[in-house]
Amino acid sequence: MTHTKNKVLIFLGPPGAGKGTQAQRLAQDEHLVQISTGDILRDHVRRDTELGQQVKPLLDEGKLVPDPILIALIRDRLADMEPVRVIFDGFPRTTAQAEALDMLLEELGAPVSAVPLLEVPDEVLIERIVERGRQAAERGEAVRSDDTEEVARKRQQIYREQTQPLIDYYGARGHLYHVDGVGTPDEVYRRIKAGLR
Ligand code: AP5
Repeated sequence: MTHTKNKVLIFLGPPGAGKGTQAQRLAQDEHLVQISTGDILRDHVRRDTELGQQVKPLLDEGKLVPDPILIALIRDRLADMEPVRVIFDGFPRTTAQAEALDMLLEELGAPVSAVPLLEVPDEVLIERIVERGRQAAERGEAVRSDDTEEVARKRQQIYREQTQPLIDYYGARGHLYHVDGVGTPDEVYRRIKAGLR
């Protein structure tokens, strides 16, 4: 089936809430392009590009990469996309990024469709992140440099300070809906789908 209608979803939620897990699944089901800024940045670090070298220390410490870099990156990804059918996972993360995205989407005539907010208690988030690091190490795979308890707590703090204001931003525009992010990935997915209907 060809999908011709624009659709723009933004997954909001703290580090470890399941944004990537759920966005990937929904993207497959709904024929959307998943744009994960964390994955894009980590890929640059892996390939040791100029951008990768620039952002690596920030990722290692759990700090946000400057807005202009992210906004340019997203502008490139959306260029020539027709129709615009995307799920953003990890973007926007600041009010400046959200405002820039609104302008880009307005130019493209593709407004935000919905913003699911995944809610998970802090301690569960830390457990998930540390567990991911532990399992990757056990399998002999690359461990994300920010998957330690110390950096995970730093990421949580930055989320509270810089990203949480977006809850009000999208709430005021009527796009936001709350999703209980605790339970199996299947259960969480069903809640997301129910909210979209
Ligand atoms: P990013 O990669 O976006 O990381 P994050 O938001 O901190 O999120 P995570 O990937 O840790 O968690 P998630 O919510 O996607 O959950 P996931 O599905 O992976 O960003 C990394 C860094 O890049 C940032 O710190 C920053 O430096 C930079 N960056 C990225 N975007 C930026 C931006 N816009 N502006 C500036 N800087 C930016 O799940 C986590 C774990 O839990 C997995 O192991 C998963 O298997 C497990 N899990 C998922 N769901 C469940 C469940 N229901 N039950 C049990 N376990 C579960």
